Order: sequence, then C-alpha cells, then structure tokens
Amino acid sequence: VIELSKTKPDTIPQRFVRDITERPTIATLTPNKAPIITTPTHNNHHMPIIDFSNLSKHNTHELFLHELLNLATACQNWGFFQVVNHGVDLNLMESIEKMSNEFFMLPLEEKQKYPMLPGTIQGYGQAFVFSEDQKLDWCNMLALAIEPQHARNPNLWPKKPEKFSHVRGGSETLEEYSREVRKLCENLVKYIAIGLGLKEEAFDSMFGEAVQAIRINYYPACSRPELVMGLSPHSDGSALTVLQQAKGSPVGLQILKDGIWIPVHTLPNALVINIGDTIEVLTNGKYKSVEHRAVANENKDRLSLVTFYAPSYEVELGPMPEFVDANHPCKFRRYNHGEYSKHYVTHRLQGKKALDFAKIQTS
Ligand code: SIN
Ligand code: FE2
Repeated sequence: VIELSKTKPDTIPQRFVRDITERPTIATLTPNKAPIITTPTHNNHHMPIIDFSNLSKHNTHELFLHELLNLATACQNWGFFQVVNHGVDLNLMESIEKMSNEFFMLPLEEKQKYPMLPGTIQGYGQAFVFSEDQKLDWCNMLALAIEPQHARNPNLWPKKPEKFSHVRGGSETLEEYSREVRKLCENLVKYIAIGLGLKEEAFDSMFGEAVQAIRINYYPACSRPELVMGLSPHSDGSALTVLQQAKGSPVGLQILKDGIWIPVHTLPNALVINIGDTIEVLTNGKYKSVEHRAVANENKDRLSLVTFYAPSYEVELGPMPEFVDANHPCKFRRYNHGEYSKHYVTHRLQGKKALDFAKIQTS
C-alpha cells in the first residue's frame, strides 16, 4: 500500500474499495473535537484520561483511590482510556517511532525479505487476509513477537534499519521499550484487578508467563479515504493493548461507542489503552473489549505502534466465579488461550466475531 500511495493513483484499486455499508462516512473522517482534560470527572464525549502517577503507592490514599475509581469507570463505560505520566520513557517512544518510519520507507524488496504469511502474525505485510476476494486494508504492518523470547522468529526480524537488528536476539531500543510497556501492563492489570474488588495479583497469576507482541501499523495517505478502511473493525484478542500514535500523525483510530464511531484524539505523549477479549471473558462481560478501527487520511501518513499483552498460550481461561451469579449467568465457556489466539489470527477481522469462539450459545 505504501508503494501504491506514493504513485498518487487517480483511482483506488478495487481490492481496497469497500462496499458502501463498510465505508467510513465523511463525518467520521473529519473529526474536529479535541479532548478536554477534565479530571476528576469525565464527560460523556471524551475518552477518559488516567494519570498513572496518581496510582503510585507514594501518593495519598485519597488520590490513589480517586484514580482507581477513574480507571474502573473508564474500563466499564469505555473499554478505552488514555494514560498520561505512564512511565514509558519519552525518548524511547521517539526512537522507536523513528526506526519504524525508517523501516517502512525502505524499498519494497527489502521489506519483503520478512513476509507475513497468512494465518501468522510475524513479519511485514498485511495480516488477516485469507482470500482473493477479501477487501484489503489501507495499511502495512510489521509484527514481531516479543515475549516469550522463544516465540521470536529471527528470520522475520528486520536487519535494517540497523537499530532493529538483533542484539542478542532483539533490538536494544525495542527491547527497552517493550520492557517498559510490559511494566505498565503488569501494573495496569493489578490496578484493574483491585478496582474490580479482586486480589492485586488475580490476573497476573492466571496469565502465567504473559505473551507480548508488537504490531507497527503504517497507514499511507489516501487520495480517497472515504472509500477505504485503514484497519477493519475489530476487538483485540489480548488482555490489554497499549497504543502509541506517532507524533505528528493525523487522527485515525476510532472506537464504536453507543453505535457511533468516535475518533480518538490523543494527548501529546499519552498512551491509549484498551481492554481486550481476554478481560471481557474473565469478567464475564463486566468489562468489554470495544470494537475499533482505523481510517486513512487524505493528506498525511500515519504510524501507530501497538503492544498486545496477553496470557500465556498454555493457560485455560473462562469467566471468574466472582462475576457469575443468578443475575449474571456465565456467558463464556472455558478454553485454552493458545487455541483462542490461533482462532483469532486465522480469521479475518470482523468486529467482535472472534469472541464467538468462547461464547456460550443461548437459544
Ligand atoms: C489496532 O487496532 O491495532 C491499531 C489501531 C490504530 O492504528 O490506531
Ligand atoms: Fe486493535
């Protein structure tokens, strides 16, 4: 897509042109409302903002509880929130944006040395494509497994730009960035657990050695953004997802809230977090993984870096007993997370359909 967009085609190839019902509307393509920072209360129109520094144990108990409540409310009402003062080094965030941009700007032959094959989610290309007549997203990706380390495929790990290439099996920048994002995820699942009235380690202990992966998305500018989709609507298969939108990138992410696609304006240096399918299952639907998509922009390329934090493939999951009672019948069966992940990557992105895998069908 990157190479295609550089030719500034007058007409968009049919393979990318969405059926009318699947196109983003002009209204959602031209968002104009920036978020208003409103702590402590959040209004209905803007994605909640969590100040992570308030959740540090050094704070007063009131401040901690207050932010914990904000977090719990954000998880329940939105499934999405932005985190400021998240502790991920801003220089690292900048470096990883820079090296990612450099990678995407390499000649196609270089990038194609690391092809992402159908049904896998490592390497460069387009994920979730399974048939010739499936419409393609206006996006190219580089996806890499980070943890556990044995899941990494060195053959699909870019050798250029230099910064990406292996230092003992990984790039130093990516390594450090991933460690810091992981720390954030580990802390977030703790605070989410506490906010749900669970023990601090409730999720962690269930996840085993958590899986971590990064997907770097490049959405080139598109002369007819109203005809294409940057990334098809979907919910994430993870427990938590951490999204970094590159500096200077246009707004592109949209979330489906109360039947309306809402564009996500990120605050400078903030990270966007969303609840994935795993937490929806564990909480028996109390917290939901929210459908989202990305749209292309007419004038500007967009880069986003997405970290998925998920349970180990070995673990068995299902709704926790704390969330099941007479008024909240069990909505999901127990399943192996590895099987769920496999199901997820071998089907095209289609709203929340992947979660049907785990749903208990009621007549
Ligand atoms: C994603 O859902 O994986 C990425 C969305 C985005 O690029 O903002
Ligand atoms: Fe996503």
